[in-house]
Amino acid sequence: MEQIEAKSFLYHVVLFYEFTHSGFKSSVPTRMKFSPVLQLLPFLLVSATVAQNDSYTDGSGHPVASPYDYQRAGTRGPLLLQDFHLIDLLSHFDRERIPERVVHAKGSGAHGYFEVTRDISNITMAAPFSEGVGTQVPLTMRFSTVAGESGSPDTNRDPRGFAIKMRTSQGIWDWVFNNTPVFFLRDPTKFPLFIHSQKRDPQTNLRNATLQWDYWSQNQEAIYQIMILFSDRGTPQSWAQMDGWSGHTYKWVKADGTWSYVQLKITSQQGIANFNATEALATAAMNPDHNTQDLRQVTDRIEAGNFPTWTVAIQTMSPEQSLSFKYDVNDLTKIWPEDEYPLLEIGKIVLNKNPENWFSEIEQLAFSPSNMVPGAEPSNDPVLQARLFAYPDTARHRLGPNYMEIPVNCPIAVHNFQRAAWMRIDGGAGTLPPNAPNYPSSFNPPVSFVQRPYNLSAIADPIVGPATTQGSYQLSLLDFEQPNTLYNTEFSESERQSLVSNVITALNTVTSQDIQQRSLDMFACVDDKLGAAIGAGIGLTPQVRSDSLDQASSAFIYLLISVK
Ligand code: HEM
Ligand SMILES: *[C@@H]1O[C@H](CO)[C@@H](O)[C@H](O)[C@H]1NC(C)=O
Ligand SMILES: *[C@@H]1O[C@H](CO)[C@@H](O)[C@H](O)[C@H]1NC(C)=O
Ligand SMILES: *[C@@H]1O[C@H](CO)[C@@H](O)[C@H](O)[C@H]1NC(C)=O
Ligand SMILES: *[C@@H]1O[C@H](CO)[C@@H](O)[C@H](O)[C@H]1NC(C)=O
Ligand SMILES: *[C@@H]1O[C@H](CO)[C@@H](O)[C@H](O)[C@H]1NC(C)=O
Repeated sequence: MEQIEAKSFLYHVVLFYEFTHSGFKSSVPTRMKFSPVLQLLPFLLVSATVAQNDSYTDGSGHPVASPYDYQRAGTRGPLLLQDFHLIDLLSHFDRERIPERVVHAKGSGAHGYFEVTRDISNITMAAPFSEGVGTQVPLTMRFSTVAGESGSPDTNRDPRGFAIKMRTSQGIWDWVFNNTPVFFLRDPTKFPLFIHSQKRDPQTNLRNATLQWDYWSQNQEAIYQIMILFSDRGTPQSWAQMDGWSGHTYKWVKADGTWSYVQLKITSQQGIANFNATEALATAAMNPDHNTQDLRQVTDRIEAGNFPTWTVAIQTMSPEQSLSFKYDVNDLTKIWPEDEYPLLEIGKIVLNKNPENWFSEIEQLAFSPSNMVPGAEPSNDPVLQARLFAYPDTARHRLGPNYMEIPVNCPIAVHNFQRAAWMRIDGGAGTLPPNAPNYPSSFNPPVSFVQRPYNLSAIADPIVGPATTQGSYQLSLLDFEQPNTLYNTEFSESERQSLVSNVITALNTVTSQDIQQRSLDMFACVDDKLGAAIGAGIGLTPQVRSDSLDQASSAFIYLLISVK
């Protein structure tokens, strides 16, 4: 009995070894080779000869002559219940599907590394930055669309997920970003309702532009993100040719407990390339997996040594600066202008290895903004705070309570008192011996304890006033300023044109004139020229003018009434 358990434990350790050494061959740092599990290696390779015989077996390892064999009573009789091979085959097949991600279901990814390129010890104590310029850590990235199901076309108009899992010496650090600098909302309760409006109607099971624009035109803090989405930035040609942003504000902390607000931007070294609407539609029809295939091709450029690469930069803001910042430092619908808060390049990302098994290395990935290392802390952005909960929660549902033991999610070292639960594949928690006590014992303690590196109470924002039930942030004229700059200054002439023509196409499929009018007025609040151009394309006249809007004007009050 003991022998069997030991064998099965060893087998899985060997699998872990093989995964890390094939999946990350080109990027395993020296440190990883010294992890306690891998130190057992010479012993394991000798003991694991069981894996060498490649004769076909059932799931329990019994030799079976042919995968096509089945047992029946007589030559033409019914099947026999005793035929474990057939029942094992069918019942495993019956359970092959796991739930797809509730959002970001369609995507793919690749492995590579992150490299520190600047000493930022004046900003954070976080690893890998604290380990010096040139330090590399292995990572896996996953790109995705948001609203489509797992088989939906890669080139549909949608934001793109831009998720990064780094395996640092201080644990997993996930950057769960999008290819846009802002988001549609700043109130956490809106997320499920917003997503409901964009996915399938429960009655018809159809996606429906009327419902999508009904939501947006009632929740106009989304306008900046809508404008990016309906420009050609909503249909990237290649995942390697787009940039990523944290969107949220984080706090990065030094060992002495002082901290800065930080936002991240990840810039493609391949440049930016987007499809126009016609090309995106044609590609969706011809090859729904266009971006998936493209990423495999660009990541396979081993001979050329020309792997997809991004630079990583941060913007920082001191707590004092945040007090005079024009917007709420935690408002996810706002950018930090780069001329006021310049980008500081701190690292680079290289993808150099395609998955060898897509399900185990990509579909089973579980990212979470709550995976942060000491020196990185969440801000009080309520959307970020909600995400800290939602991602591990959905992972426990989608993958099970031991999802962090799946090799692609597994940190380099884990020592804790978690045991058991569904699909536990090692005896102890991570790299502890399987007979280690599962509480802090007074004898033979299996773990040592480190001091908290800084005082969390001291870096918390002061709490002001009693608990509140916040309805939602109120829309204000401030919400249309950055969209106006985006339209007039940041967008090229061709982006302005694609925005107008893509919005006209979409609004012409909206079946309610009220919703068309409200949507048109939202664009007119950004800029009169934009409102006029869209109005001409849908046969309606804007009822507000951006140049005469003020918070108390009847035009703006009309807007507030119509959206509440
Ligand atoms: C309250 C707001 C949000 C909630 C509740 C939420 C929830 C979720 C959930 C449940 C998933 C599926 C995760 C999985 O099955 O592994 C997901 C995926 C994702 N979300 Fe969010 N999300 C929110 C906002 C955001 C924002 C603001 C961003 C970007 C700044 C973002 C980026 C992503 C990305 C990139 C993925 C795909 C991760 C992957 O590739 O596996 N989400 N989100
Ligand atoms: C593999 O196992 C089968 C069944 O036990 C045995 O018949 C066969 O000889 C083995 N093959 C090798 C190469 O060891
Ligand atoms: C940190 O040091 C860099 C130089 O490497 C400098 O550009 C940056 O402004 C400093 N940041 C802070 C917050 O002190
Ligand atoms: C979309 O929703 C609207 C409002 O419920 C409805 O009138 C319209 O028929 C729907 N369109 C489709 C294609 O289901
Ligand atoms: C989209 O790109 C194609 C070339 O691929 C071009 O023929 C077409 O005119 C473009 N459409 C628009 C609206 O720019
Ligand atoms: C941590 O900071 C809080 C708030 O500044 C302070 O009251 C507390 O004494 C500090 N704790 C330690 C252990 O320094």
